[in-house]
Amino acid sequence: MKIKQSEFVISAVGPSQYPEDGLPEVALCGRSNVGKSSLINKMLLRRNLARTSGQPGKTQTLNYYKINEDLYFVDFPGYGYARVAKTQRLSWGKMIELYLQEREPLKLVLQLVDLRHAPSAEDVKMYAWLSHYDIPMCVVATKADKVSRSQWIKHSKVIRQTLGMPGHVPLNLFSSETGQGRDELWSLIEQVAEIPLNTPTEPANIMQETEDNG
Ligand code: GTP
Ligand code: MG
Repeated sequence: MKIKQSEFVISAVGPSQYPEDGLPEVALCGRSNVGKSSLINKMLLRRNLARTSGQPGKTQTLNYYKINEDLYFVDFPGYGYARVAKTQRLSWGKMIELYLQEREPLKLVLQLVDLRHAPSAEDVKMYAWLSHYDIPMCVVATKADKVSRSQWIKHSKVIRQTLGMPGHVPLNLFSSETGQGRDELWSLIEQVAEIPLNTPTEPANIMQETEDNG
């Protein structure tokens, strides 16, 4: 994917503020601090377009980022912070539920989990909830740079088993530090969102060690 332009569009508090141009949307969810904003920045090769947070759990809006005239990334509020007031948590759930149920341009949901740890009970709940909607999903294991390569397969298995992921749901290992997994994730997004390819890219080759053909 050739990124010609990327911009922050809106922090939407509800459906009346969602864009109306019908471009495909890729939503990102995951607990606070898992690396959603960092992933957006790495995908767009922007240093600080999506603000990485010092104050987890603050954002309660859907943040829209537009890429070229091709698609939107929609950054969900991070879950997992009890100090968010209960009333706020309810409206969070309602807003996400409505979005997942009714948002026609939504093409793909990325659920982010931390590669270092087994998914939390909340991750498991979120995964089950998301899979119940008929929307293509990909689990993205973040902070891969913090786990040595020799441990990747082991950690990936723990994630698949804990979430109960069927084999057809892709698991993508990602690092916003090294760019690991970026090309594969773009390939997947281009496929699912049916964006016309500008540049030849490798097919998604997730969780396979590089083969030496020489
Ligand atoms: P909320 O906005 O609170 O929901 O958090 P978030 O999911 O957007 O997390 P954010 O991108 O702000 O990252 C949280 C912290 O993790 C920051 O200090 C990042 O620098 C760090 N981080 C994110 N991704 C990576 C990664 O791939 N590798 C490493 N080493 N650190 C990362
Ligand atoms: Mg964030």
